This record gives sequence, C-alpha cells and structure tokens, in this order.
Amino acid sequence: MRNIEELVKSNKKYKDAVIQQQFKSKKNIVAYVTLDNKPRVLKWFVPGLKRQMNAEYSVLKKGSSKLNIPIIHEIDEKNNVLIMNYIIGENLCDIINNQETSNNEKQRLIILLAQWFFDFHNHFKTKEEFLIRGDSTLRNFIFTDRIWGLDFEESRSGKPVEDIAGMCASILSTEPMFNSEKFQLCKIFIEKYLNLAPGRIISVDNELSYALLEKIQWRPKDEEILRRYSKLIRKKSLKKV
Ligand SMILES: Nc1ncnc2c1ncn2[C@@H]1O[C@H](COP(=O)(O)OP(=O)(O)O)[C@@H](O)[C@H]1O
Ligand SMILES: [Mg+2]
Repeated sequence: MRNIEELVKSNKKYKDAVIQQQFKSKKNIVAYVTLDNKPRVLKWFVPGLKRQMNAEYSVLKKGSSKLNIPIIHEIDEKNNVLIMNYIIGENLCDIINNQETSNNEKQRLIILLAQWFFDFHNHFKTKEEFLIRGDSTLRNFIFTDRIWGLDFEESRSGKPVEDIAGMCASILSTEPMFNSEKFQLCKIFIEKYLNLAPGRIISVDNELSYALLEKIQWRPKDEEILRRYSKLIRKKSLKKV
C-alpha cells in the first residue's frame, strides 16, 4: 500500500507537514496532517485518477460556501493532491451501525441526511440536468453538529434516484445487514427526500435492487444475501418488504 509518508518525504512542498492519521481508503491515500499548525486533509490520487481529482475539486470549489462539504484550499496538480479542511466528527457509518445509538437518534440523522442530499442536488442542478454525488455510502459522511458530505470523485450528471438508491443500499448492506431497523431507516430517508422534492423520484426499487447487486464485486462473500434481497426488493418493492 502506498503511504502518505512517501508524499511528505519526497516533496519539498510537504516537508513541514506533520502526519496525524492516515484514513482507510480503497483507492487513494487520504490523511489528516497539520500544515503550518493548521489541520488539513491531503487526498493523494493515484496518477490514473486525474479526472476523478478534477471532478472532486470542482464540487468542493463550487459547493463549499453553501453546502456542508469541506472547503478546498488547493489543488496540487503536480503531485495529484487535494488539500482541504479537516472535519472533526464521527463517521456516519459507525453511528448508524452502533447498537448503542438510539433508534430516535438514527432517525434524526437519516432525516438530516435526506436534507443534505436535497441541498446538494438543488445546488448543482441546471435546467437540463442534475449532478449526483455518486458513491453514496454512509462512510462518505461525517457527523459533527450537522451532516457533512465527503468524497466527490465519482460525481457526475445523473438522476437523483441513483444517489438515493445508493444510500439505501449502503444503509441496508452494512453490518448489521438487512434488519428491520435498516428497512425502516430507508423508508424514512426516501419519505423525507420526497417530502422535500415531491415527484423528483418515482420509485427507488429498481435502482436499489441494482445497487445491491453492484456491491457483490467488492463483497463476494456476501453474494448470496445481496442477491436474495436485490430480488426481493425488485419483486415486492421496498415498501412491502
Ligand atoms: N475532509 C475530511 N475531514 C475528515 N475526514 C476525512 C476528510 N476527507 C476524508 N476523510 C476520511 O478519509 C476517508 C477516505 O476519504 P475519501 O475521500 O472517502 O477517499 P476514497 O475515495 O478513497 O474513499 C473518509 O471515509 C473519511 O473517513
Ligand atoms: Mg470514500
């Protein structure tokens, strides 16, 4: 695995950076560092992902004054690094999947999350199309006193239902998977989004069914359960499961 130390050691630009923590990341190297005593996150993209870096930069640049997303400080094109604000909080995936979190609190957070998506989709929509965040997973959100979204490298034009279904797939398929509380949270999430944006989404079922199948490539061990629920949702609809 590449390491943030390689970047810091081999570049004058980062020679005074103090590494605080390297985060878990599938593709890139992401770390919390201090630069001139200021807390920052460095997201170091692999060379093949320039397009993704530019997509993320564009969202952060155009959105951070209005939306709860990190402020971007710099795009370092030479090294493929984004430098942004560090958001100190708790990962939403850990809070939602913690059995010590009350059901009321989970519902409250899920409603805030729906509001976050509504704000995001509205901010970037044009007459012709929507921009969706892509990679809609619980891991890509942090809770402080509000919900913050992260990780916009897969943002693209698309249908809001793709984000909403992606989020439901993440809620349902992170441990504990597919329990009744998770189904309840998905229904509340969709209902809140639809209250805010009536008619914007017709049905989540097909997209959700597909989003669950897409997860199999990362989670071959869970293939059976993902297939089973994907089929159930497609046939019966989420409302009736
Ligand atoms: N600005 C930030 N503030 C706090 N934590 C962050 C920030 N950016 C990323 N992280 C942490 O690093 C992890 C990986 O970053 P992310 O942008 O999601 O990279 P990847 O594309 O590899 O998933 C996130 O899940 C989050 O825990
Ligand atoms: Mg991520």
